[in-house]
Amino acid sequence: MKLLIINGPNLNILGERDQSLYGTKSLTDINNILAKEAKDRGIEVSFFQSNDEGKIIDFIQENYTQADGIIINPGALTHYGLSLRDSLSDTKLPIVEVHLSNIYAREDWRAKSVISPIARGQISGFGWRGYIMAFRLFAAELRGETWE
Ligand code: DQA
Repeated sequence: MKLLIINGPNLNILGERDQSLYGTKSLTDINNILAKEAKDRGIEVSFFQSNDEGKIIDFIQENYTQADGIIINPGALTHYGLSLRDSLSDTKLPIVEVHLSNIYAREDWRAKSVISPIARGQISGFGWRGYIMAFRLFAAELRGETWE
């Protein structure tokens, strides 16, 4: 089983961004934790981050046929990234959308996600642990694992 773990614009500077919203861990810290989770479960993961919507779409197009699911924090593309949404939808893969902050408790414009209607589900507001939750959900659903 293989998961694509994708982060969008500005998530490369996690740890430097507003820590009250996004926490103190860097994206490398988070990906290292995910890599360990994956290794422990024998699940393959492929990480990608870009500040460029087109590059994210290129990555999805080049990798989705080898993947079983996608975990994505689209950053601000969440709110207007229609090309990204189409690309994710075209894969027909299960998608879990992750946000570090609670996008419903911030500015009004953040409360709309163009990604969620095509996602399996969304995790928002639990900081870096949201990625781990998404990963474990995939492991549980795709491999029939239990929660122990
Ligand atoms: C974010 C929320 C977005 O609104 C914002 O543009 C981000 C990060 C989050 O993880 O909370 O860049 O996706």
